[in-house]
Amino acid sequence: MQPTLHTSLYILKSYKMNRTTTPVKTAKPTVVLKESNKENGMHKTMKALVYHGPGRKSWEDKSKPTIENPADVIVKIIKTTICGTDLHILKGDVPEVTLGRILGHEGVGIVEEAGNAVTDFKKGDHVIISCVTSCGKCVYCKRSMYSHCVNGGWILGHLIDGTQAEYVRIPYADNSLYHIPEGSDEEALVMLSDILPTGFECGVLNGKVQPGNTVAIVGSGPIGLAALLTAQFYSPAEIIMIDSDDNRLATAKTFGATQTINNSKENAIERVKELTGGIGVDTAIEAVGIPATFELCQSLVAPGGVIANIGVHGKSVELHLETLWSKNITITTRLVDTATTPMLLNIVQSKKLDPKLLITHQFKLRDIIKAYDVFQHAAKEKALKVILTNE
Ligand SMILES: NC(=O)c1ccc[n+]([C@@H]2O[C@H](COP(=O)([O-])OP(=O)(O)OC[C@H]3O[C@@H](n4cnc5c(N)ncnc54)[C@H](O)[C@@H]3O)[C@@H](O)[C@H]2O)c1
Ligand SMILES: [Zn+2]
Ligand SMILES: [Zn+2]
Repeated sequence: MQPTLHTSLYILKSYKMNRTTTPVKTAKPTVVLKESNKENGMHKTMKALVYHGPGRKSWEDKSKPTIENPADVIVKIIKTTICGTDLHILKGDVPEVTLGRILGHEGVGIVEEAGNAVTDFKKGDHVIISCVTSCGKCVYCKRSMYSHCVNGGWILGHLIDGTQAEYVRIPYADNSLYHIPEGSDEEALVMLSDILPTGFECGVLNGKVQPGNTVAIVGSGPIGLAALLTAQFYSPAEIIMIDSDDNRLATAKTFGATQTINNSKENAIERVKELTGGIGVDTAIEAVGIPATFELCQSLVAPGGVIANIGVHGKSVELHLETLWSKNITITTRLVDTATTPMLLNIVQSKKLDPKLLITHQFKLRDIIKAYDVFQHAAKEKALKVILTNE
């Protein structure tokens, strides 16, 4: 997750920097606290993974969050995970993350307390936390572009305290949490916070995957694999996975890839041409985030096809209009909106999709430092997603 994820947060960074002109607004502070954060005059505390600047994090005591606005909910975390984005923050790539910030933007939990404007959630409800917080009312939310919500977007573990803790405060809870149906495998549903909607929305939907079509996915990390799993809703004839890591390609094979190509050993352009009768693929999904892989997608796409970019890019890439101008192609970009989370949840419930396939490692939440170590060495450890359980 190194070069890719290294680039990762430039865009998120610039995205957030652009947003600094639109400060994160919160609901009106006419708050009636249902529960005080004090016990015998002392602040209640919890354990959390705290960012202390590049390369520095610790598992330490923090104040337990309280309702700050009437639309907030406090969630007791049951399970959470680590994202490549967290590694970027720890590298110092996301300077707007301030010292003392609790990291994490994925997880499932139980509602501990709900603000008095929250209508859909109450104490005891089991919930999926969306990585994107959205008010449901602004101009972007009305267009289902929740990632661009002027009151939210990706703020958890970034601009406000996140989910790698015993408790988290979720603003605009009615629009940012999802009920977990009774009897669900809650661990599997952690993959609905970020990974599955990202692969599906930015890769499969934007890539217009169709029955009988051909698809190439460049990058077989958790996101590329999520695109692979969700592309199969549409029964494409071929899904060709391209990566330089044989272990991840072997995983892709078990997830339904019809072909795999290790582009550090083989010429991916030639192989894809061979596999597609010389024309290339209808959809080329970029799930790495470096110039080489976006350029590869430009060489793989067939006339009339789509290049769907998922990767977060930190550097400019060359656009080969000298060959693409006549090919009737479409290029799409997207920051995950999580607008499809309810639909993905239905599919998981119907057992047509098993997100657990993406989970490779288990830890107790209090062993999160060890879990970071494994996740930081994903190739060596054969790691995809690690699950942290708050016991
Ligand atoms: N658009 C969004 O909203 C959004 C959301 C989440 C993540 N992302 C981005 O999606 C991308 C993928 O995320 P991930 O968590 O799966 O990352 P990852 O680092 O785990 O996986 C990337 C994969 O690319 C492979 N790779 C690296 N260089 C390659 C090359 N030259 N050719 C072929 N394969 C190569 C790696 O072996 C790895 O398997 C990242 O850029 C991430 O930041 C975007
Ligand atoms: Zn993430
Ligand atoms: Zn909004």
